[in-house]
Amino acid sequence: MDLEVVDNYSVMSEIAANLVAGLIQEKKNAVLGLPTGSTPEGMYAHLVEMFREGIIDFNAVVTFNLDEYVGLAPGHPQSYHQYMKNKLFDHVNIKQENYNIPYFHDKNDPGKVCEAYEKSIKAAGGIDLQVLGLGVNGHIGFNEPAPCLHTSTHLVELTEETVKANSRFFDSLDQVPRKAITMGMGSIMGANKILLLVSGEKKAKAVRKSFRGLISTENPASFLQLHRNLVVILDREAASLL
Ligand code: F6R
Repeated sequence: MDLEVVDNYSVMSEIAANLVAGLIQEKKNAVLGLPTGSTPEGMYAHLVEMFREGIIDFNAVVTFNLDEYVGLAPGHPQSYHQYMKNKLFDHVNIKQENYNIPYFHDKNDPGKVCEAYEKSIKAAGGIDLQVLGLGVNGHIGFNEPAPCLHTSTHLVELTEETVKANSRFFDSLDQVPRKAITMGMGSIMGANKILLLVSGEKKAKAVRKSFRGLISTENPASFLQLHRNLVVILDREAASLL
């Protein structure tokens, strides 16, 4: 594990963007696993800037998002589909057929949707670089703390803690979806390289538990310690309890 502590969010975001950009320059058809949330916003802003400056080209890049809420249409302002368009996809030359976000609505067979997502990742040759944020409760993607964890893409019931944490993006707590579809621990750990980004004091406990504690399904991020090519970038606040 390569664990780097940097001064602040802005330095973290710049380093992360440079890492992603380096991969895209090296491999034009790189396959990226992408998160949403507050953490990667700065990284996406840098990537958009680098694209505008002609430093990187998304023409052949393929992406797979980690997760999406169940019950929000792709055009809903808080859907992860919309987030990705706002933060990245609408500003770079990625092809629409090359970006993938899991999507489930009631008329679909959940098993089939999840299986198809896993198949698409395999068909793309697997994920070269999986970027992750960290939940305050140690979740990655929406793999929530539980007595056992799923290997592959699946439907999940969000914990109250996650619903509360994500309510900052909604007008009220009841508007936050209670279910999501997420890549599983195996889908994440199968990536060639993982880049975990963590910023802020409120994540410090989760960081400590993930990297100084035992591996436990009650703290899904702790499994990342087992990955052979893991880079963790923390800002000082997130690293404050290490
Ligand atoms: C989002 C995701 C989540 C977030 C995590 C941290 O696609 O998979 O695991 O990375 O909840 O969220 P922020 O960055 O908003 O603190």
